[in-house]
Amino acid sequence: MNVKEIFETMDYGPAPESAAEALTWLVDQGSRFGHFINGEFTAPADGFDSKNPATGEVLATLSQATQDDVDTAVAAARTAQPKWEKLGGPGRAKYLYALARLLQKHSRLFAVLETLDNGKPIRESRDIDIPLAQRHFSYHAGMAQLMESELPDAQALGVCGQIIPWNFPLLMLAWKVAPAIAMGNTVVLKPAEYTSLTALLFADICRQAGLPKGVVNILTGDGAVGEMITTAEVDKIAFTGSTSVGKRIRQATAGSGKALTLELGGKSPYIVFDDADLDSAVEGLVDAIWFNQGQVCCAGSRLLVQESIAERFHAKLRARMDKLRIGNPLDKCIDVGAVVDPIQLNTIQGLVAANTAGTTHHAQIPMPKGGCFYPPTLIEGLAPSDTLMQEEIFGPVLVSCTFRTPAEAVELANNTRYGLAATVWSENINLALDIAPKLVAGVVWINGTNMFDAAAGFGGKRESGFGREGGWEGLAAYTKTKVKSKQLNQIAPFSGAGAPTDPLDRTAKLYIGGKQARPDSGYSRNVYGPKGALLGQVGLANRKDVRNAVEAAVGARAWSKTTGHLRAQILYYIAENLSARADEFANRINAMTGKAQGADEVETSIQRLFTAAAWADKYDGQVHGVPLRGVALAMKEPTGTIGILSADEAPLLGFMSAMAPALAMGNRVVIAASDPYPLAATDFYQVLETSDVPAGVVNILTGSHAEMATPLASHLNLDAIWSFSSTDLSADIEAASAGNLKRSWVNNNQAMDWMSDHSKRFLQEAVEIKNIWVPYGE
Ligand code: NAI
Repeated sequence: MNVKEIFETMDYGPAPESAAEALTWLVDQGSRFGHFINGEFTAPADGFDSKNPATGEVLATLSQATQDDVDTAVAAARTAQPKWEKLGGPGRAKYLYALARLLQKHSRLFAVLETLDNGKPIRESRDIDIPLAQRHFSYHAGMAQLMESELPDAQALGVCGQIIPWNFPLLMLAWKVAPAIAMGNTVVLKPAEYTSLTALLFADICRQAGLPKGVVNILTGDGAVGEMITTAEVDKIAFTGSTSVGKRIRQATAGSGKALTLELGGKSPYIVFDDADLDSAVEGLVDAIWFNQGQVCCAGSRLLVQESIAERFHAKLRARMDKLRIGNPLDKCIDVGAVVDPIQLNTIQGLVAANTAGTTHHAQIPMPKGGCFYPPTLIEGLAPSDTLMQEEIFGPVLVSCTFRTPAEAVELANNTRYGLAATVWSENINLALDIAPKLVAGVVWINGTNMFDAAAGFGGKRESGFGREGGWEGLAAYTKTKVKSKQLNQIAPFSGAGAPTDPLDRTAKLYIGGKQARPDSGYSRNVYGPKGALLGQVGLANRKDVRNAVEAAVGARAWSKTTGHLRAQILYYIAENLSARADEFANRINAMTGKAQGADEVETSIQRLFTAAAWADKYDGQVHGVPLRGVALAMKEPTGTIGILSADEAPLLGFMSAMAPALAMGNRVVIAASDPYPLAATDFYQVLETSDVPAGVVNILTGSHAEMATPLASHLNLDAIWSFSSTDLSADIEAASAGNLKRSWVNNNQAMDWMSDHSKRFLQEAVEIKNIWVPYGE
């Protein structure tokens, strides 16, 4: 046999990792677990088995948390929170650092336990999950250290309920727990029912680190426990999992005042241009879709390949698939391990079996006997509308279709209800960086894929959820601004008896698409001053007017591509034109409200416009150094189209405080004027018309907030909704927003002090951060 023949016939020998230590740890714990509440494990109670999906063997028995357990855990977290927060950033940093060190010390035990419980290859748990979890604690030890100096206005939210999935059990725990406790919150966390063991080992680590009792509480159980946590007396819910459960949680928390972040599903495009390094792109796909058996929310599960190279690329890909090794996840030579549970395996099998389109290739490789294994699979030649191009499979199944031009690639990539991640392969950096901003995704990887780091925020757009985890932006999800809140009571319009004396109809119309438009309802109402004087009439917008206004805002998308400089110029111009009519506006406000607030409101409104203009070309993103070959560009993108219910009590200032930062960041808006005092907004049409604001960028409706709230909140083409209305609408708005998971920012009947400058907060709400990973340096 010569060397060539040896190489060609050489096979892998087994390289098994021992399970002994992990199994001993389970036995030492009695193989039965209770919950971790207030620094102690409770006695094991009725529950369920946790199994190794590669073998079906029972690893341990876990307890199903009851309502009592949830209440006790939340109470422990509540009691511990003030003291934990008062410990200060540097005090907390020491504990986070200790947790990072202990994770490092026990990293092999964690990796083996994770692989046993979840079925993922040991190479992945050892080299990715556990090191990244450790990095998260170490990074956030630094964030705790810097909190007081760098985030002086931020404070903890309180108690955070956290619900995590089974695909990265310890890593998702780290993503949730580290930033929360760094910022002074305490947590009640529920791991997924299939994979709770590393969370319980982490609880043990918390004890070893001497973490104060009650700071971290861990409850095991299924979705019913998740529901109990969602409705418990917590200040925030952080959820990672399926889009359908994410929507349920949005509805369940609507109007509760609980902060919410949702990290949901995806169908992320993986775009290969004809000038890509095809072998690298094939290798990238192994990481994109066969990493963790494809059970990755941001998996590159939708291959879009340029037509001219499609045949060659698919051939290379099939050849690579036929070399993957599937089997015992504890074997260090294994590429593909076990799917998490027979239920998930069933789902994958069902989805693939139901598909009749395209050509299916299952990797031609030896399959292990028994266990939850599914072969790496490629389905070529699908149409964009085919179910498998749209639905998340959450398994090792790649679907593909072709495109001809970059524009078509973008169109296909964005043809999804999701917007989590995207991957672009091209040796032409001009092309890649031209495409990246056009992709609707929270993360874009260029010539690489599935890269994660604590310094780079992660999170989606559209129905992939909202909020970011990691980086500076991730801290916003665990902090609130230090402001005293005050109850906001509903302001009713004044009534009067005066009838219009003018025979001509001078009813102020709506302002849609740059034009004044009569309300579809055909109805209007009188606006009276406090003493019953008739001040004017406004149209009553209905559902159809809302639709027209949203359509106009969507059509004005060119605004989002303008430069910050141009937007600043237009905002200054609005300020100038408003200033020229300052007295008229001040008098109007005084007449409507019966208070001498007009002059202050106008002057401060002009300030808000100036501040927004100032920020328009300065509210920049960041460049994150990540410990991989590259940098992550954290770009601030406009949220898109925003529906706004203006503050009732400050008819001009409330309107301007929301509109100006939204416009500055490149958003288009549909604004409902102050419900009782709408005439300042209608007078503002003329200012807009003389200030070069493109048609459709600002659309103004008048009428009842209660009428407009649900049509706005449920409109599928609006990306966000803000409400500062004095009518109690927060619950309705948040529940209706679940349809397309639009971002919501509602006041929960708390008054805002409009004379104070909240511009920074508004700017933050007006953008979403896209992290673009680009190769850089060696
Ligand atoms: P799931 O969304 O039901 O489970 C995720 C977590 O939520 C688990 O801890 C579960 O106990 C909890 N949960 C379930 N129902 C709940 C409720 N009503 N209220 C509060 N918490 C609840 O995901 P599942 O059923 O395990 O997987 C189904 C599909 O979801 C997968 O096939 C995949 O498409 C997707 N998925 C996406 C993940 C992601 O990272 N984006 C992670 C897991 C699943």
